[in-house]
Amino acid sequence: MKDYINSSDIEDLNSLIEEALQLKKTNTVPELGKGKTLGMLFFNPSLRTRLSTEKAAKLLGMEVLVMNVGTDGWALEFEDGAVMNGNKAEHIKEAAGVLSQYCDIIAVRAFPELVDRDKDEQELVMNGFKKFASVPVINLESATGHPLQGLTDALTILELKKVKKPKVVLTWAPHPRALPQSVPNSFVEFMQQIDVDLVITNPEAYDLNPAVVKNTPVLHDQAEALEDADFVYVKNWSSYEQYGKILNTDPSWTFNEEKLNITNNAKVMHCLPVRRNVVISDGVLDGENSVVIQQAGNRTFAAQAVLKRLLGTLGNG
Ligand code: CP
Repeated sequence: MKDYINSSDIEDLNSLIEEALQLKKTNTVPELGKGKTLGMLFFNPSLRTRLSTEKAAKLLGMEVLVMNVGTDGWALEFEDGAVMNGNKAEHIKEAAGVLSQYCDIIAVRAFPELVDRDKDEQELVMNGFKKFASVPVINLESATGHPLQGLTDALTILELKKVKKPKVVLTWAPHPRALPQSVPNSFVEFMQQIDVDLVITNPEAYDLNPAVVKNTPVLHDQAEALEDADFVYVKNWSSYEQYGKILNTDPSWTFNEEKLNITNNAKVMHCLPVRRNVVISDGVLDGENSVVIQQAGNRTFAAQAVLKRLLGTLGNG
């Protein structure tokens, strides 16, 4: 693995998940990261990604540098050939090159603007770092994907499943703000690669990118989709078709105890942060079916497994 930008960077998902689960059970090898530095750049806020990835790096013996570039750094230019006479003070070419002098691995979080779909899909920030950094780059959530979350979700389902091929339902839920499709995109991509029966349910005009959904069934009737579910992954996303728009805030899509009763006593997942009683009810989040805290705990082991793979590609110099 040269970078960890999306799920296609993983050569063998099952062995990466096995490694993460093994790291959860045993102490790891701090020598691997000794003398190496992880630089984490945040253009947007974070709790879990920031702290779990920092913890993972430290468990591997790495030093960690963290910068909130969105607030503390120079405004970056990503367009090739730009005449920089506006408010952008530094080009990604220099920024990524300089960071590569200080860091052995660079990790970046940069959300989409949710205005221009074509522009967001170009992933200018993530691809800019990938192109101009001379060290591996990790995606800490970009315009279209959140592969550390997707890996965590896959390993959590494999860890908790009680049947060989569980039914997993990804359900849309309402939210007052326009959110990216990055988490559901990665969730679908990872579920398509493990042995589960995946169903997506969302209102009309909320279908995810067809290039991501592929042959996965999409139902617009939430109750029908939830029947016999072993896992329910609840998440809001803004419309892909009418890009970035909120078209529906119908509270009947909130995941509550009544919905849980339709399922096969499903484990309930969410990437967090979650808006209580809008996305998921208190009763579900505080009940025994919710695994959201354990899921967030697994973020450390997913990050550790990825860092371990990338460290393995570095020389000792
Ligand atoms: N799930 C997730 O990425 O959480 P943070 O936004 O807090 O990092």
